[in-house]
Amino acid sequence: MAEIYHATATAPVNIAVIKYWGKASTKLNTPTNSSLSVTLSQDDLRTITTASCSASFDSDALWLNGAPHDVSNARSQACFAELRALRKAKEDQDSSLPPLSSYKLHLISENNFPTAAGLASSAAGFAAFVRAIADLYELEETPTQLSRIARQGSGSACRSLFGGYVAWEKGSREDGYDSIAVQVAPESHWPTMRAAVLVISDAKKGVSSTSGMQATVATSTLFPNRANVIVPARMEAMKKAIAEKDFEGFAELTMADSNSFHAVCLDTIPPIFYMNDSSRAAVRVVEEINRCAGKKVAAYTFDAGPNAVIYYDEANEDLILGVLKKATDHVTGWSDKYSRISPKVPDGFNDS
Ligand code: ADP
Ligand code: DP6
Ligand code: CO
Repeated sequence: MAEIYHATATAPVNIAVIKYWGKASTKLNTPTNSSLSVTLSQDDLRTITTASCSASFDSDALWLNGAPHDVSNARSQACFAELRALRKAKEDQDSSLPPLSSYKLHLISENNFPTAAGLASSAAGFAAFVRAIADLYELEETPTQLSRIARQGSGSACRSLFGGYVAWEKGSREDGYDSIAVQVAPESHWPTMRAAVLVISDAKKGVSSTSGMQATVATSTLFPNRANVIVPARMEAMKKAIAEKDFEGFAELTMADSNSFHAVCLDTIPPIFYMNDSSRAAVRVVEEINRCAGKKVAAYTFDAGPNAVIYYDEANEDLILGVLKKATDHVTGWSDKYSRISPKVPDGFNDS
């Protein structure tokens, strides 16, 4: 019986406050604009993936949440190929290492939150995919180097290699080499940031992020202005708001960018609707909280799905959670099944 080698890794979800939406190259999976996210606590939402390899396995395979999942697609294949090449280089240096790069891989992965429902499962999923194999291969690559590989699996996954506040810089090289994630600030820089996740539906979305953004790039007339003018300015403003721990600035930019992203979705032909009536009710509740407070104390954002993520400062926790809890009892379609709070936004890996 051939030996089986294995390693297990977890990865957190990240929720963008400046959204990635649009590919510059579908082959390299590079974006039309840079983006910026906050990594949530792995205590709440996380992927756990075990990677194993053995001379006795006859094909690469992935089981996701208990069911076989396709890995023949170019994006999973690109991750396998890059990780194998790094392992092969190590084996070429040290002939005492077992030839894991030549063995087929089996991955077993589980998300403890809804998959393909707009809560960044592809981000945590591909970050865990890459980390588990990198650990199995005992690779010494930094999180930034691994982010270059995870990006090819799913763009948003590159940002889940770090904790805290993370930018994905779109890069300018033809080969996508500088399209990588960098930590803008660790969690400890602004440790009072909190996120409430309001699960409105755990159903799989009708239009995947991959196909939705390609349709937007191909058909939306509003899109070029968003990608080339609006987002670059917002990236700078958001980095400044984070550096200064300016919650009002952070909130304004976060809500404006979520609305701009959903506007270009609506401007796509045929239009894409990720938010629903219950999502819009969440927007109104947050607007009302901010109006009553006389300043912005809460910021909503929606990914490619109906579920709301609401950022707030710990100092306002009783107010925000109290109002959300009350509203949950009244608004149709809000479930508190998964509605939970990230108690803290942890540090993941740092490059140092
Ligand atoms: P989401 O909003 O959840 O990120 P996407 O449409 O971007 O939705 O991507 C969903 C897809 O990501 C899934 O259909 C699956 O192919 C992939 N994915 C999700 N979780 C994992 C995982 N744990 N491991 C590998 N791939 C995953
Ligand atoms: C709305 O990273 O899921 O969540 O690269 O095609 O896998 P692919 O897309 P994905 O898109 C995420 C879109 C978003 C915004 C964001 O996370 O920045
Ligand atoms: Co995704």
